[in-house]
Amino acid sequence: MNRVAVELGERSYEVRIGPGLIARAGVEIAPLLRRKRVAVVTDETVAVAHLPGLTAALEAEGIAVAALALPAGEATKSWEHLARCTEWLLDQKVERRDVVLALGGGVIGDLVGFSAAILRRGVRFVQLPTTLLAQVDSSVGGKTGINTAQGKNLVGAFHQPSLVLADIGVLRTLSTRDFLSGYGEVVKYGLLGDAAFFDWLEREGPALKAGDEVARLRAVTRSVEMKAGIVSRDETEEGERALLNLGHTFCHALEKATGYSDRLLHGEGVAIGCALAFELSSRLGLCSQEEPSRVRAHLAAMGMKVDLADIPGDLPGSEALIALMGQDKKVVDGRLRFILARGIGQAYVAEDVPGDKVRAVLEDALARRR
Ligand code: GLY
Repeated sequence: MNRVAVELGERSYEVRIGPGLIARAGVEIAPLLRRKRVAVVTDETVAVAHLPGLTAALEAEGIAVAALALPAGEATKSWEHLARCTEWLLDQKVERRDVVLALGGGVIGDLVGFSAAILRRGVRFVQLPTTLLAQVDSSVGGKTGINTAQGKNLVGAFHQPSLVLADIGVLRTLSTRDFLSGYGEVVKYGLLGDAAFFDWLEREGPALKAGDEVARLRAVTRSVEMKAGIVSRDETEEGERALLNLGHTFCHALEKATGYSDRLLHGEGVAIGCALAFELSSRLGLCSQEEPSRVRAHLAAMGMKVDLADIPGDLPGSEALIALMGQDKKVVDGRLRFILARGIGQAYVAEDVPGDKVRAVLEDALARRR
């Protein structure tokens, strides 16, 4: 098991990464408990696969378990399910000294984390992420929240977990598509700040995809180390944390254009967005043309979506896509910001990127669909 510290003073916590951590959850969580009871919130799909194992592990340490399974899917990150989850936790008589467990992917982590943030003005919670995307990104760093009619993640709170248990053994239960979607976020870490990690992913990516647990452990650990470092330095995204949004401005526009549907998973959009961000960087003269080619080559070698041509169905034109970017919550004072790169591993926040260059990148990408 690897341990990565998220250093945030009194709110510091560990991310523990390794196979078999759900089976060890009772041992890992018991020291946090002031009474031997926990409330677990999960989704109906994850409940079938992992709740019996988690419950057995907790009960083996004498910890009583109450569990709630919400519907699986992004629609659960809603006011309705926030209310249901929070009222259920109140019905379970969860008190400020208790600990809530979030067992699932990013939807459950974000929703349950937000519920824990507002319940009795804040109770502790533990993240047990069951997708690669949640293990390397959403379970670490304390961003919690829900979606509303106005957009995704517009209502929420920073509320750090007390512990994250990333059981890499559960990644075996993911479909290849879901695994590769999470891998989009793994690649992002190499691209934004660690060229040697990207080199390593180019070599070891196929083994990782095939299920090599040593490679998976290293990839998740390095990703979490990078995120933990950034969050420790910039918890509330005043500066450096924005680098984690590499590829996300393009991604959000594409997700909106495809209706947040099965046509494009979040991590797929991140991967395409990273390729486009490197293309834009190269056209702005920030890096050589070899850099975006290398990014695309790695994504293609992994069997991932690389370009707009890989998104099924219709897409709007470049102007409409730029307009969809303009509604991104990361717009500052009405100006679009992009995370661009001076090379692999050298991302930075760019303000006032020329619109004609963005349009040209999108138009060329749209032309490749024809
Ligand atoms: N997922 C981006 C962040 O946590 O800041």
